[in-house]
Amino acid sequence: MLIYNSSKGYGAIPQATHWLTVILVAVAWALGLFGDDLPNGAGRAAGLFVHISAGLAVMVLLVFRLAWNLATGRHAEPTGLGVWVDRLGRGAHYLLYGLLIAVPIAGIVLQFARVTRYQYLVSPTFHRRR
Ligand code: HEM
Repeated sequence: MLIYNSSKGYGAIPQATHWLTVILVAVAWALGLFGDDLPNGAGRAAGLFVHISAGLAVMVLLVFRLAWNLATGRHAEPTGLGVWVDRLGRGAHYLLYGLLIAVPIAGIVLQFARVTRYQYLVSPTFHRRR
């Protein structure tokens, strides 16, 4: 089995990280949308924990994938469908990479904003500590 990309196809590491990213994004997305349907309390907290963990893992995997691509060279083969199709494919990939970093960052910002607002509104010691 190929480890690296070659003209014969994608290597095992790029394929594994690709499909792991797909699974993690699907899990994060599903729990983001339907997590509120979990039972209140421990069930919902566990759902949010898995949601956040999956989202953070996506970021870690993305950094790994970019480092791997830089270290090994991407060897993106022309599709044979024309130069504009290849450019479009490259552009779509950059867009997806951007989203894979932007969405978890938006989640992190949201989580920090929620925690701060929560402490500000209901924590009895918050005002005294500042
Ligand atoms: C690929 C990664 C991620 C995807 C696809 C994703 C997707 C989503 C979606 C679809 C929602 C529901 C939005 C709505 O109902 O309007 C959501 C909510 C949320 N996400 Fe993410 N998310 C990701 C990563 C993260 C990360 C890394 C964090 C925090 C560190 C995070 C924190 C949150 C929070 C706090 C909510 C609100 C949950 C609630 O309603 O209680 N997300 N996310």
